[in-house]
Amino acid sequence: MDARVATAPKSSGSKLLDALKSKMDWGFLLLRNTLPILVVPWKGRTYALVTRYDDVQEVLQRPNVFNVTYAPKIAVIMDGDNIFLGMKDEPNYTRDRTNMRMTAPRGEALSRVKPEVARLTAEAVQRALPGGRLDLAMELTQDVTTRFFGAYFGTPGRSVTQFSDQVRWLFGWMFADIANDPAKAAPAARLAADLRAYVEEAIAARKQARGQQDDILERCLRFQDMGTEGFSDREIRNNLIGLIVGALPQAPMVIPQLFDILLDRPQQLREAQAAARADDDAAVSRYVFEASRFFPLTPGLFRNCEEDYRVAAGNWRARTIPKGAFVMAATRSAMFDGRRVPRSWQFRTDRPDYSYMHFGYGMHECFGLYMNRVMVPEICKAVLKLPNLRRAPGPEGRLRMDEEFGIFPMNLTVAFG
Ligand code: HEM
Repeated sequence: MDARVATAPKSSGSKLLDALKSKMDWGFLLLRNTLPILVVPWKGRTYALVTRYDDVQEVLQRPNVFNVTYAPKIAVIMDGDNIFLGMKDEPNYTRDRTNMRMTAPRGEALSRVKPEVARLTAEAVQRALPGGRLDLAMELTQDVTTRFFGAYFGTPGRSVTQFSDQVRWLFGWMFADIANDPAKAAPAARLAADLRAYVEEAIAARKQARGQQDDILERCLRFQDMGTEGFSDREIRNNLIGLIVGALPQAPMVIPQLFDILLDRPQQLREAQAAARADDDAAVSRYVFEASRFFPLTPGLFRNCEEDYRVAAGNWRARTIPKGAFVMAATRSAMFDGRRVPRSWQFRTDRPDYSYMHFGYGMHECFGLYMNRVMVPEICKAVLKLPNLRRAPGPEGRLRMDEEFGIFPMNLTVAFG
């Protein structure tokens, strides 16, 4: 065992990240108890920050009042079109989400996602065994998700690295570039055009070789054969791109982040490892999603307010959010609201599922919800089974985020054995 591991100093970057993280949670705590629905006019626009569990859910349950903000960037990616992520509660929303659900049935989370992800994870771990080190970000999770979804969707990409880099940039531009930085828009437009061309080629190629694969592309084409509405080539392309951009980058964000929490909590790490070694999937899942609460995907979800609306009406804290406001429903804060998540500062594994909003809430709740609930713990289980699991020494053992967007873990190496 490497004696330096336990004492490896944190880099100034990760110290800063830690400081910001803890300040954010203190800020949310303060707001939940003083100004739970903060409404601030600034430079000609109104901004609202909603921090309590009940109010966050109220906002996310009103998709036609608090509309998603994604349509303009989706239009760039889809060459003028929209997909269900960017829509209100309208007929095409229901049609497209239902269509895609028919091609990716919920039951496949267990029958297909779980075994395939377990196999790919085992291969990645096997490759790392001789070296006794494994990077949980790119080397493990990005590799596994890109390969798995490539096969499941029928769009493996031109290469694992090129495909995941391209999609990660598009995801960052869509979800993390709130200031609409022009320097990010140009590469995004280029990458989007390339992705469209790739998916169009995949559809055309499949039409020449039908019936040999059982994947989402093949199933879409079967619905097209039947004349089902919503399955034109262009609609298949758009929905596949939506799934690709939604699916590839997020487990590689969530998994290194939750291990960053677990690796600093020896007791919970030991317990999670015991659960993994006993193949107690339900218990592994509880450790994983509880750890993720302390370092979730995002502080919150953004919405455009489309009509004056009073949140928490009838309560002392009620505030009217005016039409035109830019709203953040702070899911991270909601998951620490002690009114609904008892002893929220404690790491507990007996919390009901509804304590968590890792995958959003309401109409736009993640399409991949059931896959994620299986996939994330399955990948983590293989890591947790490694003997003497610890941070690798030096900066490699500290979470490093990407430089362009600051939201993507690029490295967190663990050592074992
Ligand atoms: C750990 C992995 C994932 C996380 C943390 C995650 C998180 C989320 C969240 C928070 C939302 C809600 C967005 C909002 O309301 O503004 C969402 C929506 C969505 N996600 Fe995921 N996601 C993950 C994986 C996936 C996967 C694997 C897929 C595809 C198979 C996917 C496809 C989508 C789609 C299409 C939506 C839009 C749903 C709608 O508008 O009805 N996501 N996801």
